[in-house]
Amino acid sequence: MGFKEVFGLLPEASAQAPGRVNLLGEHTDYQEGYVLPTPVPYFTQVEAAPAQGQVEAYSENLGELRARPLQSPPQGDFLDYLLGVVWALRASGHEVPGARFYVRSRLPMGAGLSSSAALEVAALKALRALYRLPLSDQEVALLAQKAEVEYVGVRCGLMDQMVASLGEVGKALFLDTRTLAHENLPLPPRTRVAVLDLGLKRRLAEAGYNERRREAEEAARRLGVRALRDVADLCLVESLPSPLDRRARHVVSENLRVLKGVEALRRGDARAFGELMTQSHRSLSRDYEVSLPELDALVEAALAAGAYGAKLTGAGFGGAVVALVPEEGYAAFKEALEARFPQLQLL
Ligand code: GLA
Repeated sequence: MGFKEVFGLLPEASAQAPGRVNLLGEHTDYQEGYVLPTPVPYFTQVEAAPAQGQVEAYSENLGELRARPLQSPPQGDFLDYLLGVVWALRASGHEVPGARFYVRSRLPMGAGLSSSAALEVAALKALRALYRLPLSDQEVALLAQKAEVEYVGVRCGLMDQMVASLGEVGKALFLDTRTLAHENLPLPPRTRVAVLDLGLKRRLAEAGYNERRREAEEAARRLGVRALRDVADLCLVESLPSPLDRRARHVVSENLRVLKGVEALRRGDARAFGELMTQSHRSLSRDYEVSLPELDALVEAALAAGAYGAKLTGAGFGGAVVALVPEEGYAAFKEALEARFPQLQLL
């Protein structure tokens, strides 16, 4: 199948966007902190043609064609993301009368690799080309987040959409989510980023994510700061009642780890960078309590198999583990993990 077979005409624009893993800076982006994600070389591609008054889309992966008028509320399917980006563009004053989309993706869904951000950003870039919209890549990311938060109804930060729009494969995007200042930094030489997916279903992820956001907001309020980004001294968190002290300790220490990680990248120091990733995981597990026993075991197994460092990636409560592995040890790493976890998908 292709665009022509589904819609009887040729597409007039196309764009793609990658998924991501986050190397450092987990659960910091909704407290105006620092993040350091990197795109994975798996893309969602969107082809587009104009339409009037509706959004129509075919998903090659799902084998589904769906259409709804522009004013429709979200219904919990993939079309929501596409209606969402058209809605966000129109709400921001751009003239977009509707669209037809053909979507194909090599990104596994539900592994925590931000397939939704990749779809939103690819669709926005296809619409930008189709309707010649004067939008920068950063504006694309902000519109994608607006679609996800205000239309689809998922309270996410800005990390996923920024890296899907501005990231470069082989580089980490150092982003300050307060100022939006960003820089693409090369990953350490002679390393590989491995994504370890056990196919773990997320458990209560949305409820857990929103609860952590509330806890972080409450901790910031009690500490008298606009966001936990503003807490430079880790000792300050000890005055908070449990569990807010642990939640704030994670966010404050995680911001420091991103800054140290950036220095390690500038030195090309894979060992130091990996150590920070592992510290991040332990903090996510013990203090932020968003890990699962299976993810903890996978991190330990990755370290035992020779990784410089490993951590869960994304919101947690399921999803994948990311590991930084020495290039020359990759074959042995893969073999050891595949022997131990027969259901493991290594990306
Ligand atoms: C999800 C959100 C991001 C970020 C991470 C946790 O992926 O979409 O904005 O908050 O969780 O770091």
